[in-house]
Amino acid sequence: ADDEAQARIRAARARLGDKAVLLCHHYQRADVYQHADLTGDSLKLARLASQTDAQYIVFCGVHFMAEVADILSKPSQIAILPDLAAGCSMADMANLAKVERCWRELGEVLGAPDERVAPVTYINSAADLKAFCGEHGGIVCTSTNAPTILDWAFSRREKVLFFPDQHLGRWTGFKKGIPLEQMVVWDPDLEYGGLTPEQIHNAKVLLWKGHCSVHQMFQPAHIERWRKQHPDGFVISHPESSLEVCRNSDYVGSTEYIINTISAAPANTRWLVGTELNLVSRLAEEMKPQGKTVEFMAPTVCMCSTMQRIDPQHLAWTLENLAEGKVVNQIKVPAHEAELARIALDRMLAVS
Ligand code: 13P
Ligand code: SF4
Repeated sequence: ADDEAQARIRAARARLGDKAVLLCHHYQRADVYQHADLTGDSLKLARLASQTDAQYIVFCGVHFMAEVADILSKPSQIAILPDLAAGCSMADMANLAKVERCWRELGEVLGAPDERVAPVTYINSAADLKAFCGEHGGIVCTSTNAPTILDWAFSRREKVLFFPDQHLGRWTGFKKGIPLEQMVVWDPDLEYGGLTPEQIHNAKVLLWKGHCSVHQMFQPAHIERWRKQHPDGFVISHPESSLEVCRNSDYVGSTEYIINTISAAPANTRWLVGTELNLVSRLAEEMKPQGKTVEFMAPTVCMCSTMQRIDPQHLAWTLENLAEGKVVNQIKVPAHEAELARIALDRMLAVS
């Protein structure tokens, strides 16, 4: 059945020609990734989506990425997600109602949050949260540009509300030298985030209580054990991992950064990688001819189950429909929301 789906994908693509471009995130499974026209991390894919002229942008990734492609592409272009159930569990940890309540409560404690707090949303978030940032003088960031974006935010306001990933926020603030006690966790299920007015007043960064279920599997103990066995090896992690994992890594960065760093490393080096398994397995295969060993950080299998939903069957079905002139699984952000979200995305693209 898999071979059949692969053949159907190739046939539909041949019929579509350059009407469709396939953008693929690095976490995509091998049987989908092999069909990519262009690959990247979230920032690179956002830029590519804004630059392509293809009529159909078929996004092999997760929902928020296809939303960004829709927002940044021309109105005549159509963004498509081959399986609409491919969400991001971290993105789902923040929603507009909870962020608006947080903003109201910050206003009660601090007065005028629009003057004092910059809302910064990780790109792993729904479009209405990006719109919230656009409307309230905030901005979007990715794992690549988070340090630059934090500088941007602090050049405008004295505090930052960072959502939904506490780990990326904490690591970025830590690298900037912000004391850990001035980075406090805002629990959206508690009144005033579970914080006292004094804690809110003293905070520089308010970290939304969200995380990635894949990256939370990585533990400092995995690194410690591996280093004992391979004292000359290098450890590289994605900043969605915990602060302790990032602190114990030699390198920290986005999926594209991880791939580029290991690709450019000297032959015969050994690497432990803290990010999603599809990426690590592919890289391990690709690096073998150079004698590089690439290993996955956790002892258990942890893939991003939602990225994994984009399979050859869904992709074949999507492309066949497009080849027949029938649009399926379009991702269309409502115009008003898209306009505000674009403000926050454009601010990000302008400074990164
Ligand atoms: P990158 O932008 O580094 O590709 O990260 C996206 C993501 O979802 C990581 O879990
Ligand atoms: Fe979301 Fe984590 Fe999957 Fe990335 S790996 S898409 S953050 S659930």
